[in-house]
Amino acid sequence: MIQFCDVSKTFNEGQANEVKALKNIQLTIQAQDFVVLVGANGSGKSTLLNALSGSFKINQGKILIEDQAVNHLADYQRSKWIARIFQNPLSGTAPDLSILDNFRLAALRTKAKGLGIGISHSFKKEVKEKIALLEMGLENKLAQKMGSLSGGQRQALTLIMAVMDEAKIFLMDEPSAALDPKSAKNLMQKAQQIIQEFGLTCLLVTHDLKDAHQYGNRIIQMREGSIVKNLDSSQKKALTLNELFGWFGE
Ligand SMILES: Nc1ncnc2c1ncn2[C@@H]1O[C@H](COP(=O)(O)OP(=O)(O)OP(=O)(O)O)[C@@H](O)[C@H]1O
Ligand SMILES: [Mg+2]
Repeated sequence: MIQFCDVSKTFNEGQANEVKALKNIQLTIQAQDFVVLVGANGSGKSTLLNALSGSFKINQGKILIEDQAVNHLADYQRSKWIARIFQNPLSGTAPDLSILDNFRLAALRTKAKGLGIGISHSFKKEVKEKIALLEMGLENKLAQKMGSLSGGQRQALTLIMAVMDEAKIFLMDEPSAALDPKSAKNLMQKAQQIIQEFGLTCLLVTHDLKDAHQYGNRIIQMREGSIVKNLDSSQKKALTLNELFGWFGE
């Protein structure tokens, strides 16, 4: 589904503040893999996600999605494959627009969708049905402004937008970091349920090692722009929480 072939990214190349954020990354991700990324601050986790979604051009290497090289594609062109949730519940949505209008915007962002989304009753019905999956009662508040919702509610809706997009790849960069423990747990559980139900391929960045242990079928540790650990399904199953904590004591 996703391949990083010898991918490097250097910020501020040749300057005093040069940072080698990704160094010769080799990584293959199968369809429906749920890969958890851990690592210290600044180790390159977000940069890896950003390289995939096309926030910038990489300096070296190739990125393939479904065997197609995407290096030359801009981020909006990759959005037919990729949806994302960020750490900050405010990013990715328009606070002054209603829930329904935010869904319209999200749908328009992916080019594959035709015109006429704005007036379609079936679109509204689909939005309602999908939001109902969250079991948070938000399907009855479609006219409410996005900005008036809690962080947890907003993150959950972003999750649903990803599914509406028909994107197959779902990137989550510390999605629950800004949420209280109960909302964080709720979001992660809903995310897992929806990822499974829709067969998404997923990358999750988290500093919560309990979440990293509990979720996903693969786990990767990054350090200083390199992948230093890359566990497959059976290795991840065998990994204990204590061992995982041990990775950070080395
Ligand atoms: N747009 C940018 N311009 C310059 N440097 C950047 C940029 N984005 C990231 N970096 C640098 O690249 C390195 C990796 O950053 P990155 O955000 O990928 O780390 P991270 O593993 O996500 O860390 P955190 O856990 O703190 O989110 C850091 O040294 C960071 O300062
Ligand atoms: Mg980050």
